[in-house]
Amino acid sequence: MSGRLRVVQWTTGKTGSAAVRGMVGHPVLELVGCYAYSPDKVGRDVGELCGIDPLGIVATDDVDELLALEPDCVSYMPYRPDFDHLVRILESGANVVTTMYMLSGSGYGEEPTRALRDATLRGESSLYSSGIYPGHAPMVALSASAMCRRIDRLAVLESLDISDYANEQMFRAMGFDLTVDDPRAPVALEASCGSFKDQIGVMAKALGLRTDEVRFTAEFATANQTTDLGFMTLERGHIAGFKGVVAGVADGRSIIECQFVWKLGEDMTPDWPVTRGYLIEIEGDPDVRVKLESPSGHFDGATTTAMPCVNAVPAVCAAPPGIVNQMALPFVCGAYLARP
Ligand SMILES: NC(=O)c1ccc[n+]([C@@H]2O[C@H](COP(=O)([O-])OP(=O)(O)OC[C@H]3O[C@@H](n4cnc5c(N)ncnc54)[C@H](OP(=O)(O)O)[C@@H]3O)[C@@H](O)[C@H]2O)c1
Repeated sequence: MSGRLRVVQWTTGKTGSAAVRGMVGHPVLELVGCYAYSPDKVGRDVGELCGIDPLGIVATDDVDELLALEPDCVSYMPYRPDFDHLVRILESGANVVTTMYMLSGSGYGEEPTRALRDATLRGESSLYSSGIYPGHAPMVALSASAMCRRIDRLAVLESLDISDYANEQMFRAMGFDLTVDDPRAPVALEASCGSFKDQIGVMAKALGLRTDEVRFTAEFATANQTTDLGFMTLERGHIAGFKGVVAGVADGRSIIECQFVWKLGEDMTPDWPVTRGYLIEIEGDPDVRVKLESPSGHFDGATTTAMPCVNAVPAVCAAPPGIVNQMALPFVCGAYLARP
């Protein structure tokens, strides 16, 4: 590769900050600009916003200014997508990597998807989504499946106490702190799991499996006492945990499963055990089990979410125009990260 790839970071929340930290000193990526959503971040040094030394790059909310930098790629990690921004980025010729998994599928509906695809064709650019889950953990499962002669069921479980991922906006949108009989609770949770439905589609296609339906089931756990998490308060008796499955079903049988146990704290009923990390289980011939865990106890979720996108930037820049999913790229790994 001649010269480093020029990357603009779009927002510096938890995931975006981890992406910036992952790009600093990277041998083939060069951070050249940064978009800020929050007015109080505009004009501030990006390093400072991401908890590291100043980088000499100032965050801006001026989209034209950022596109004038002619980035090879935008690392797009806001809380919600702005389709106007995305179309402008893609039609300018900049590629996009994003942790918003639904952007690579039909998760936001046909019209936005068509607008994004058309923009990639006009700009001869690519849009790619990953993350950890959905994203890279299911890719590890697919990679493990190559060892099998027969697959009866392939399941990925994310099982975490997520109370260190301070994000009241996201947790309330998922239905945390509603009462279990609130009709909004199952609707909110299922909507939040839309990206897993896209993930099931990617996995089924990769496995050559025709699914008849994607089924969603979930249970709720309630807080045993009112708990102040620092960034939000859970009321006693309100939803403090979810356990569920998004399943690809064929001939009435659940064959591909994205499972989750998400807890805000530990003091809840039922108190499902948390395995901390990602458990991949394949039933078949042979049975296979893979555990993704951090020996030091707990994954830094922002890093494991951001890096599958950061590490894909070279492949995404080289990909043909369009919306590309993980099966359309060469194997994404930690290329260029091992240093003597
Ligand atoms: N696939 C995965 O494994 C995975 C895992 C976790 C998260 N995600 C996704 O990754 C994205 C980033 O997650 P995160 O936890 O880093 O998010 P976050 O910290 O809550 O927000 C990211 C940034 O979005 C901007 N923002 C805040 N409110 C917004 C709003 N109402 N509309 C648009 N932008 C807003 C802010 O930008 P400024 O910093 O510029 O103010 C904020 O820092 C989300 O879409 C999330 O769903 C994916």
